[in-house]
Amino acid sequence: MSLRIKIAKDYAEMSKLAADLIIDLLNKKPTAVLGLATGSTPLGLYEELVRRHRAGHDFSQVTTFNLDEYYNLDHEHPASYHHYMHEHLFQYLNIPSDHTNIPDGATSDPAEECRSYEAKIAAAGGIDLQILGIGINGHIGFNEPGTPFGSTTSLVNLAPATIEANSRFFERKDDVPQQALSMGIRSIMNCRGIILLANGESKANAIAAAVEGPVTEELPASVLQLHPDCTLILDRKAAAKLTHSRC
Ligand code: GLP
Repeated sequence: MSLRIKIAKDYAEMSKLAADLIIDLLNKKPTAVLGLATGSTPLGLYEELVRRHRAGHDFSQVTTFNLDEYYNLDHEHPASYHHYMHEHLFQYLNIPSDHTNIPDGATSDPAEECRSYEAKIAAAGGIDLQILGIGINGHIGFNEPGTPFGSTTSLVNLAPATIEANSRFFERKDDVPQQALSMGIRSIMNCRGIILLANGESKANAIAAAVEGPVTEELPASVLQLHPDCTLILDRKAAAKLTHSRC
């Protein structure tokens, strides 16, 4: 059980490598269940998947589950992950809309929404391949430092560093929701395969700690060291603080 690490020369190559792994899986298993992430990091991957679709790849049998969504934010809000997924991916691919799943952050009953989200993942047979980004504090999904490794989908509080980092997507910092619905650490570890993407120097400390530091709930991404099939695809800047030599 050790992390596979691929270092790409730049963001474009990182995105292409990730798209290659997804398309390889879909060629073997057209009905695969994909776990999707949001944020700036996977935008290049999604552009690449749109290119592959335009070049003929069929996504009609794919099912998707997103990692997380802000709590108490309308689906139409430009910073909601519902809006993001439609804008950057779903409108361009031929995945049937009833095969795409995102936690409902506008729900009036978050506990029930979290239970039913886990049930939907189980009913789909689990997630074959989960895409992850990483927060500068090492969060995955919206699982902030201190989240128990046994957590499943739940209503979570965002760390001040995450609110600060994500305020660029909102008009004012005060507009950033303080809570989100997020798949938990156990939900992520249950995925059969994982690809974590990271680019840029702001991620270098979190990546070094996740890969070479102790496995600790204080650095949520460090749990991935225990996953049997996890690949990190990094650009050179995000990989810059890894101390062991890598090929
Ligand atoms: C958000 C998301 C994470 C994402 C992280 C990093 O907090 N919930 O899933 O990985 O931001 O975002 P970015 O890719 O924009 O750096």
